[in-house]
Amino acid sequence: MEKKKKLLILTGGGDCPGLNAVIRAACKRARKEKNWEVYGSIEAFNGVFSEPTELVKLTRKRTAGIHVRGGTILKTTNKGNPTNFPMPQPDGSIKMIDRTEELVKRIKSLGFDAVINIGGDGSQRISEALYKKGLSVVGVPKTIDNDLSATDMTFGFQTAVQIATDSFDKLVTTAESHDRVMIMEVMGRDAGWIALHTAIAGGAEICLIPEIPYDINKLVKKINSRYVNGQGFVNIVIAEGAKPKDGTITSSVGEKGSEHVRLGGVAYQLSQQLKKAGCTAEIRETVLGHVQRGGSPTAFDRVLASLFGVKAFELVLEGNFGRMVALKNNQITSVTLEEATREYNIVSKGGPLVKAAKGLGIIFGD
Ligand code: F6P
Repeated sequence: MEKKKKLLILTGGGDCPGLNAVIRAACKRARKEKNWEVYGSIEAFNGVFSEPTELVKLTRKRTAGIHVRGGTILKTTNKGNPTNFPMPQPDGSIKMIDRTEELVKRIKSLGFDAVINIGGDGSQRISEALYKKGLSVVGVPKTIDNDLSATDMTFGFQTAVQIATDSFDKLVTTAESHDRVMIMEVMGRDAGWIALHTAIAGGAEICLIPEIPYDINKLVKKINSRYVNGQGFVNIVIAEGAKPKDGTITSSVGEKGSEHVRLGGVAYQLSQQLKKAGCTAEIRETVLGHVQRGGSPTAFDRVLASLFGVKAFELVLEGNFGRMVALKNNQITSVTLEEATREYNIVSKGGPLVKAAKGLGIIFGD
């Protein structure tokens, strides 16, 4: 009997809606080829490193219907980067070490012929490092931030925008009732995509994004123009990475081994700045946080994730490794892992979305 080939799938970095849809799609496509078995590594590559290993066989029963569920059945972490892995030392300290060679050896000795790594920019960089060390790996891009330039869109983004827009709509009615200024902070790291889409979809008066530093006095002027005889209301969307023209963003230092510094809290900073600059209206702040990454993916994200999952397995089948699947001009295609991580996709100041938003009367404070 022909020896079965083995595929390992894992999810790395922050989770996002649609990960399960990729896993299910890749497994479904693999099942059509009778000679493939698919396994999942629990918590990114940690499942391979742990003793004993934590690997699960992705049977039909395990993956049936999971495309509608948020999160990842394989769990994830942003602290398991094998190129810079936090290793506890006997004295209680943590030493960062490169474990890529050891990891590639382990994966091969466990009999795996290929790996599909589903993750954001950090995970794709890890895939590239492992590919260079001889691992047969294919990447699948995910992130709510939509900040990977090699793909026109990442799954998770549409869902995050929908959640943010639903929340924004709720804030509008309460802002109106109380004549208040509502500040809603959304995620996105250094990219303003979630904020910009939400501001347009929700009909915000002000949208603040990292790509366009704001002048606080221009914001106060806009707010005041909306209040007549002390009555009025203003809805602001601010991206967590937004900053004033002469200031910096709030950030807290990340945990040891974590992929990024943590952002969050600019809504409160903005509130203080507005008051200091003479805004007399009542202000309330809402930080949406991880709610944007939770729950069921939208239909669009389920479709995109499913197409990516099928394509990823097809690249494996063709032996086309060292590549990341991508959406380009409405086609599901692939790019090299090197291309995948070369540039961030950030909002262009003079781009069509900003132009349209300005046409709608949304101000950015520039
Ligand atoms: O990259 C996705 C993202 O949700 C960012 O928008 C956010 O800054 C970050 O991850 C939060 O990371 P964590 O889940 O580690 O708090």
